[in-house]
Amino acid sequence: MNPVAVPGLVLPEVTFPPSFKWGVATSSYQIEGAVAEDGRAPSIWDTFSRVPGAVVGGDHGDVACDHYHRMPQDVALIKSLGVDTYRFSVAWPRVQPHGQGPVNPAGLAFYDRLTDELLAAGVDPWVTLYHWDLPQGLEDAGGWPNRDTAYRFADYAMLVFNKLSDRVTTWTTLNEPWCSAWLGYATGVHAPGRKDPDAALAAVHHLLLGHGLATQRMREAGGEHTFGITLNMGTADPATDTETDRGAARRADGMGLRIYLDPLCKGAYPQDIVDDLAAQGSAFPVRDGDLEIISTPFEVLGVNFYFGQDFSGTDEHGNTVDTAGHPVVREVKPGTARTAMDWPITPERFTQLLVRLHRDYPGLPLVITENGAAFDDTADETGFVADDDRTSYLAEHIAAVAAAREQGADIRGYFAWSLLDNFEWAEGYAKRFGIVHVDYATQVRTPKQSALWFRDTITRNRSR
Ligand code: FCB
Repeated sequence: MNPVAVPGLVLPEVTFPPSFKWGVATSSYQIEGAVAEDGRAPSIWDTFSRVPGAVVGGDHGDVACDHYHRMPQDVALIKSLGVDTYRFSVAWPRVQPHGQGPVNPAGLAFYDRLTDELLAAGVDPWVTLYHWDLPQGLEDAGGWPNRDTAYRFADYAMLVFNKLSDRVTTWTTLNEPWCSAWLGYATGVHAPGRKDPDAALAAVHHLLLGHGLATQRMREAGGEHTFGITLNMGTADPATDTETDRGAARRADGMGLRIYLDPLCKGAYPQDIVDDLAAQGSAFPVRDGDLEIISTPFEVLGVNFYFGQDFSGTDEHGNTVDTAGHPVVREVKPGTARTAMDWPITPERFTQLLVRLHRDYPGLPLVITENGAAFDDTADETGFVADDDRTSYLAEHIAAVAAAREQGADIRGYFAWSLLDNFEWAEGYAKRFGIVHVDYATQVRTPKQSALWFRDTITRNRSR
């Protein structure tokens, strides 16, 4: 690839030490396809994407980017970007089709081949064990609201760990448990599409328990590994400086960030949120010893950042409680610039978040495991996309990471989301997050301008 010039774009200059790790990220259901091959059974996303109206355009992951069949070419593409590391997830229903019982060797073999292919290309594999594709068999048995799922997850983790831990050093358990629990079981916009807030609270607790159990077991198995978890995090500021809005921001921050990080890092759910929930007659289903398991030490926190938020404690009509009698927590989007997801573009909030994590959860190394943006791309006749908007987004957010490092935050790496355009969950294929364009009719991959800029940024920082 020739060096990229980005005419007309004024991009911030970024400076990182050569030890800083650069990567690209994907997840299994979003790219693999081959949903019925080599013994894979359905996941909750195979089922949910068939529910009329659940996914834009009726899209599903049956073929996606056909990565299962094109893996060697995709690894060559990753290598061509000059990254240090590649974050991928393992599909539980390939490895253990119904979520319990014996391993499916043909499914696990795919990740074995992928690991070897990456290592041969000089790219370090970074494993995520769970990126939302729960085996449907486990959902039928109660899903994440069922405590047993946490134990099933730890068993599954060991099947993967036993196969790959001689070559994979970084192991993250869950991707974004907030999305699994809240979008999956409370709002129902993600699989499995349930709308039961108490089930979502139980899911939160059992996801965290599963993380702790799996981490303990993998660590006990021995070897030199780095363990961690990835959370989606933003910032929650009051829309105005009133007590009502400050209260809404506190609740949003508690439910979005602290109910995960406090038990993980401090061994306790935040008391203000426990009190809020008690006032509504709800609670996390904690048993003796759970919080010790959940707070088992880990070495890296994966940070997925897309945007910051402001919150108001009143609805559009001025009410401070909703129809269920609960306090209003209404999102008010800051600023005016937006991505195609209608997500606000707030790089300064990224710095704010990272500095806050460093302050409130000290001693925990951070890696940005996802950051990126969807825009309405237009490919030219060669398939090339001159994505000034995405290039600027990445440059501004990487500069925000550099600013947080200057303020003392211990941030060791950055993964762009995503390597490829892919199945964007409830948005289907309509929203493109890739730095590489995918023509879904031909499966041709074409690096976008943002990919070339990213590659050059990595090269520049390595040779400092
Ligand atoms: C995150 C998910 C990832 C992708 C991006 C846009 O919440 O982890 O799979 O969908 O958002």
